[in-house]
Amino acid sequence: MEKDDNYTHNINRSNERSLDRRSFMKTMVGAAGLFAVSTLPWGALAAKELMGPTDKSFPKQKVANLSDLQPGDAVEFAYPGEHDGALLVCLKEGEYKAYQNACTHLRCPVFWDREEKELLCPCHHGKFDAATGRPLAGPPRRPLPEIVLQQKDGAVYAVGVKKYEEQL
Ligand code: FES
Repeated sequence: MEKDDNYTHNINRSNERSLDRRSFMKTMVGAAGLFAVSTLPWGALAAKELMGPTDKSFPKQKVANLSDLQPGDAVEFAYPGEHDGALLVCLKEGEYKAYQNACTHLRCPVFWDREEKELLCPCHHGKFDAATGRPLAGPPRRPLPEIVLQQKDGAVYAVGVKKYEEQL
């Protein structure tokens, strides 16, 4: 193999550099494109999730028999998924409210304080209004997502989750 003189060697080196720059730029453009394609739909989905559940359809799920609920009672259940903790509260005779019970601060499970008639989060003393789901005290700023209920044939059913904007 013929050995490069200094001049040829430098030309080759500068071609290599420009090729390197070109391929580097191609790689960067490709990576940026890939990043944009892969993140845009997820970004949109994440924004939708932040704004609360949308027009997706929800299952109809029996929560309790009305005859088993007295004013002040609460029932824990999961809705719409098996890992979506929820609470149904009987505020007074014939008046029921249900919320997903992951605290809107840092997602600790909120529980029903029967004595105080409040939804409490033990982690940072968050409190929510049982009639509206709105935060009353502590760090939470957003209401608990309200579950839409339906009464039929002596039972109460969960049929949906209200959008965040519908609760404000
Ligand atoms: Fe509920 Fe912080 S997680 S108040």
